[in-house]
Parts: sequence; C-alpha cells; structure tokens
Amino acid sequence: MRFDVITLFPEMILEGSGYGVTGKAIEQGVVGLSAWNPRDYTCDKHRTVDDRPYGGGPGMVMKYQPLCDAVKAAKINNRNTASKVVYLSPQGKQITQQLLLEASQVSQLILVAGRYEGIDERFIDAVCDEEWSLGDYVISGGELAALVVIDAITRLIPGVLGDEESAKQDSYMDGLLDTPHFTRPEQGELGSVPGVLLSGNHKAIDCWRLKQALGRTALRRPDLMKVKKLSTEQEALLKEFRNEE
Ligand SMILES: C[S@@+](CC[C@H](N)C(=O)[O-])C[C@H]1O[C@@H](n2cnc3c(N)ncnc32)[C@H](O)[C@@H]1O
Repeated sequence: MRFDVITLFPEMILEGSGYGVTGKAIEQGVVGLSAWNPRDYTCDKHRTVDDRPYGGGPGMVMKYQPLCDAVKAAKINNRNTASKVVYLSPQGKQITQQLLLEASQVSQLILVAGRYEGIDERFIDAVCDEEWSLGDYVISGGELAALVVIDAITRLIPGVLGDEESAKQDSYMDGLLDTPHFTRPEQGELGSVPGVLLSGNHKAIDCWRLKQALGRTALRRPDLMKVKKLSTEQEALLKEFRNEE
C-alpha cells in the first residue's frame, strides 16, 4: 500500500509519519509514502497556489490547476496502481475504523490536504473520489487529518504490528470498545489488578475481558450497542456486568 499526500507542507507529512509504527513500516518498505507540493506544479514565477474567492469574502481559495497536476504526477509515478483520491475536509464523511479498514484494501491512497478557506469546488467534483472528515470541527489544514489516516491505516496492514492480534482487539474493530488493561505493580497506591487476570485461567480471562468490553461499550457508547448484534453468550455477559455494576 502506498500513500501520496498533496500538501503545501510536505515536511509536515514526512516528518510527522517518521515515528513509531508508521515510521517503522515506511522504513521497512511495508508502506510507501510521498508528499507532493502543488507549488511545484504552478506556472507563474510567483508559484501561486491560491487566489481570492469569486463573489468576495474573507480568505483565499486553493487554485485547482496546481492540485490537478500534483495528483496527476502522483498517479503517473505509480501508473499501474489502482488509486483513490480523498480530499480531507470537515464537510466529508466521518472517518471511522470501518471506513479505514475498507481503505486499507486500496493500493494507492492519494490524500489531498487543503489550506486557507479550502479548495476550488471544481477540483473536488472532478478529481476527488471521496471527502473524509476527522469530525465536526475545523482545523487549519488537512495535513493533520492525512497523518491520522496514514497512521490508522498502516496499523491495519498485516505484518505492521508486532502482534497480529493487537489490532484485532482494538476498539471499534468488532463494534465494541477495547477491554481495560493493567500492568505491574499487582498492588499499589492506585489499587489492585482484577484477580482473574492473575489466575492464569485463559478461558476465564477471555470471558472477563469480553464482559468488560461489552459493559464499557454499553455505558460509554450506547449508539454502538444499538447496532451490535449480540450472541446469547454476549447477552448473558452484559447482564452479568450490569448486575455487578
Ligand atoms: C480552515 S479549513 C477550511 C474549512 C472550510 N472553510 C469549511 O468551513 O468547510 C482548511 C483545510 O483544513 C482541512 N480540514 C479542516 N477541518 C477538517 C476536518 N474536520 N477534517 C479533515 N480536514 C479538515 C481541510 O483540508 C480544509 O481544506
């Protein structure tokens, strides 16, 4: 899988993804990452990437020609690869684990980071396949959203995480929140570790963890619970959790 980011701040993408899980995956060549600056595809001596909005109003708008040419270059560089072009935008569909799981199947994801008031709408209509949002708030540029997408997808790629099971147990992977985690000390000023986790009984541990995940999801995210289909065993565990509460 490869990521190509269209951005006025390429260093922000290359530097920001150079750490931890993503940094290692890039270093090992499991994922590819390039950043393309629209400024390199301008045709005037001032390398202009933005202009005033038609109709007046505050701020500047990103011109479509440098963006179109940057996307073209990213595609030509990987001409045999099936690609998807995504504009990171507060007006897009909300990024979820499910959306990212589907996106992790694409060979090349071209992420377009906007700046200023945004991008000329004609570019979004003609070139972008989808618009994705971090949430119902506005940040100053799409770079942080692109970094979030790159990180979240990279950890889903087989072989990237040390333990294959790790991503599978994460929140949202099966419609539930993750179970609580504990580590040493067994007992301390903040309390003790639930006894079952020290029992060595793996069946009982799995059962406790599932019960906590179900209970926690029901308490914190009833919206997820409404759409999650529970097995008879899960129903019973959730009932048990509620009784214990
Ligand atoms: C200041 S914002 C422009 C916001 C735009 N005027 C609006 O209200 O829809 C500049 C850029 O930041 C990015 N951005 C802002 N909020 C975002 C969000 N919630 N999710 C993803 N990208 C976002 C987009 O790429 C956008 O083009």
